[in-house]
Amino acid sequence: MGKYVIFNVSPRPKSNSLAMAERIKQKVEESGNEAVVVNFAKSNISYCVGCDMCKHKEELCCSRKDDLTPLLPLIDECDGMAFISPVYWGDITAQGRAVSDRMYAFLDFNRETFTKATKTGKKLAFAFSSGSMPEGSMDAPAEKWAKDPFGTAGFGEYRTVVFNGLGVPGSIVDDAEKMAKVDELADWLLA
Ligand SMILES: Cc1cc2nc3c(=O)[nH]c(=O)nc-3n(C[C@H](O)[C@H](O)[C@H](O)COP(=O)(O)O)c2cc1C
Repeated sequence: MGKYVIFNVSPRPKSNSLAMAERIKQKVEESGNEAVVVNFAKSNISYCVGCDMCKHKEELCCSRKDDLTPLLPLIDECDGMAFISPVYWGDITAQGRAVSDRMYAFLDFNRETFTKATKTGKKLAFAFSSGSMPEGSMDAPAEKWAKDPFGTAGFGEYRTVVFNGLGVPGSIVDDAEKMAKVDELADWLLA
C-alpha cells in the first residue's frame, strides 16, 4: 500500500481546491492506497523562520510546533503528493508558500546529495484553481516549486493542471469535464 499526501492550500473553507483534494483522496483510497489530506482552512501551519535549527541536527526536524512538523516524516516516506492551490497573483497562495519554504528542513549542506530525503524522484501533481488563468500559464511557477523546495524534499517528476472560471467556491464539482481532468491527474499520480 502506498501513501499519498494531499495539500489543499486554499484558505477558503468550501473551496474548489477542497473539492479537488476530496476527489483525489477518493481516487487514492479506491486504488487501495492511503491518503493524508491537509486542509489549510483548518490547519495551523506557520512559515519558516529561518532559525536553522534543522541545519544543526542530523535528523529531519523543525523548530515550529504546528501541524506541519509531525508531517515531515510522512512527506519523506510518501510515494507522491498532490499540491492544490488557488492562483493568487499568478502564483501559489501565501499558505502554499509556507509549505514550500518549510521544505528547507530537508536541505542538508553536509550531505553530497544536499538532502535528508530518503527517496528521490517521487511524483508531484499540481492542480490550480483560478478565475482566468489560461492553460499552460502555471507551468513556470510549477517548475520553480517542483525543482527547489519540493525537489529537495524528494520529489521529481511533476504534472500541472490549471482550471479557470472558478470564482465561485466549490463550483468545480458541477463541471464534469474539469473533474475528469482531476481524475486524470490522480491516475497519473497513482500510476
Ligand atoms: C488574493 C487573490 C489573488 C488572485 N489572483 C488571481 C490571479 O492572479 N489570476 C486568476 O485567474 N485568479 C486570481 N484569483 C482568483 C482565484 O484564483 C479563484 O477564485 C480560485 O478559483 C480560488 O480557488 P479556491 O476556490 O480553491 O479557493 C485571486 C484571488 C485572490 C483572493
